[in-house]
Amino acid sequence: MPNIQTKINAGIVGVTGYTGQELVKILINHPYVRITGLFSSSSDGKSAASLFPQAGGRLGLSCSKPEPKEICAKCDLVFLALPHTVSIALVPKLIKAGKRVIDLSADYRLKDLKVYAKFYGARHNDSCGAKKAVYGLPEIYRNKIKSASLVANPGCYPTAAILSLAPLVSLGLVDMSSIIIDAKSGVSGAGKKFTEDFFSSDDKESFKAYKVGTHQHVPEINQELSGLSRKDISVVFVPHLLPVKRGILETVYVKKSAGIKAGGLVALYKRFYKKEPFVRIKPQGEFPALKDVVGSNFCDIGIWEDAKRAVIICAIDNLLKGASGQAVQNMNIMYKLPETEGLL
Ligand SMILES: NC(=O)c1ccc[n+]([C@@H]2O[C@H](COP(=O)([O-])OP(=O)(O)OC[C@H]3O[C@@H](n4cnc5c(N)ncnc54)[C@H](OP(=O)(O)O)[C@@H]3O)[C@@H](O)[C@H]2O)c1
Repeated sequence: MPNIQTKINAGIVGVTGYTGQELVKILINHPYVRITGLFSSSSDGKSAASLFPQAGGRLGLSCSKPEPKEICAKCDLVFLALPHTVSIALVPKLIKAGKRVIDLSADYRLKDLKVYAKFYGARHNDSCGAKKAVYGLPEIYRNKIKSASLVANPGCYPTAAILSLAPLVSLGLVDMSSIIIDAKSGVSGAGKKFTEDFFSSDDKESFKAYKVGTHQHVPEINQELSGLSRKDISVVFVPHLLPVKRGILETVYVKKSAGIKAGGLVALYKRFYKKEPFVRIKPQGEFPALKDVVGSNFCDIGIWEDAKRAVIICAIDNLLKGASGQAVQNMNIMYKLPETEGLL
């Protein structure tokens, strides 16, 4: 564990985007981190004081271009808050230089690189990195994350979907062919540019489904649920664009396996997540709301069931438990720090 004096020298690449900004907000108050590099293609040379006035002058840095040499010279740990396909150009060089990397994009989440090419529209040319990367969902992979040099931080929708379903699929309590995920996300899930355009359009008074059955997070959810169940799972996933800035709420519908009686699921979920600092199971008959999780790293889960079916409802902040908060939780695990440091 680093001590308060030595600290982790951390850098953020893509720092002017939404998840980059969230990382700055968390890390500037983290007692074991010193932000030693801010990297931006659009704001090269700009001072941190002008980009992050809320930091009150505590970041005496200017942004630099995201050149691998410069990143390696300044940082030991690198957060990549970049669009998918862009991280692949940097990761192999950073790993070769002995740096630890937490990639917030989708570039290292999928193990099957043909599936990556199909859903992200680009050939993946770092199969070695893809093999090495640890999927950064602490509730499932905490032990592997501890020693990882490359963490693939999960997607926002997959975080809520996997945490909703992990107890049921890993214990074989549901009909694996029956899973339907009805997901709603605030618009910041699609990044800064999209959000700015959205709030100046007529869509801000509307509500709609998009990429029904074809969203790029479907293979990630299937990969992780199949791993947990050791069966081939293929979910129905319907994302919706909710006209709020941040937050994800997912409602998951399943048929229970034969012989599973009604009434025990809330207690089962409480047992499954009892050591988890950020997963909160609602009491019977209560369900999550975005306002209770937005601005935090919590994942709230509520459960309804009858004799044959169950409905699991989950809420997270897409920019925190769905991205930057989870990335810092992963960093805490990698450096053997208290897992909640900087996040509670
Ligand atoms: N938003 C979410 O809720 C969320 C949740 C989970 C995961 N993610 C993933 O996290 C990553 C960042 O998401 P975000 O929401 O922060 O996106 P964003 O707001 O669009 O920011 C991405 C940043 O990356 C940099 N960038 C953009 N295009 C680039 C290019 N071609 N080459 C180099 N840098 C480029 C820009 O920053 P500079 O100009 O400063 O370099 C840009 O502001 C994405 O891969 C996203 O899928 C997002």
